Amino acid sequence: MSRKRIVAGNWKMNMTPAETVAFIAKLKPEVDGAETDVVMCVPAIDIVPAITASRGTNIVIGAQNMHYEESGAYTGEISPSMLVDAGVKCVILGHSERREYNHETDDMLNKKLKKAFEHGLTPILCCGETLKQREMDITGDFIRMQLKSDLAGISEIDVQNMVIAYEPIWAIGTGETATAEQAEEVCGLIRNCIEEMYDEDTAEMVRIIYGGSVNAGNAAQLFSQPDIDGGLIGGASLKPEFAKIVNC
Ligand code: 13P
Repeated sequence: MSRKRIVAGNWKMNMTPAETVAFIAKLKPEVDGAETDVVMCVPAIDIVPAITASRGTNIVIGAQNMHYEESGAYTGEISPSMLVDAGVKCVILGHSERREYNHETDDMLNKKLKKAFEHGLTPILCCGETLKQREMDITGDFIRMQLKSDLAGISEIDVQNMVIAYEPIWAIGTGETATAEQAEEVCGLIRNCIEEMYDEDTAEMVRIIYGGSVNAGNAAQLFSQPDIDGGLIGGASLKPEFAKIVNC
């Protein structure tokens, strides 16, 4: 079974609406005809201009977060139906920065995942260990625990259609990329965990990507690993380099 590769950008808190339109206009011809799925997860305020600017192209626009309630008194939040109505197709959930700075728990993420599936959004669920956890040799246990809590009660069909991003926290924004072997080891472990929780077909179908200091120089080696189906790109997604990563 062959899984289609996916390269997703995560702009984090970067790019104004005007910068978004200019960036997408430049990116369009560079990724036209790409063999991978191309996704750009933009700040909430950039979603509408990004969707307008990418209409008729192969660039899919994603969000970086979403609330698990349908609507209500949640100042500053964004609901699943707002994303769907705007034309968003996928949403990053559980990025380590949101887990850390916004105190997102696995319980909240489980609710968010269920809501995303209910609304037909493809979640990109992030998981990954701290440097301390890696040094303590508990990376595998920690990631299994994250996956078991985040995916509790979620059907195999939904898991088959989602994306799991392995993002070791020590590799994010540090320039210190996991080696292809380190990344493959954990992505393989994630696939085994999905097989244990579901079945072989689900494990074969779920797309698992790597994120953490991916750039045009290291992407090809990372993405050629058997269990790595693409990447989640932070800093390099803000530069023309992103197209090189897509086409690598
Ligand atoms: P960098 O590529 O900047 O390390 O960020 C990775 C990331 O957090 C993507 O979600």
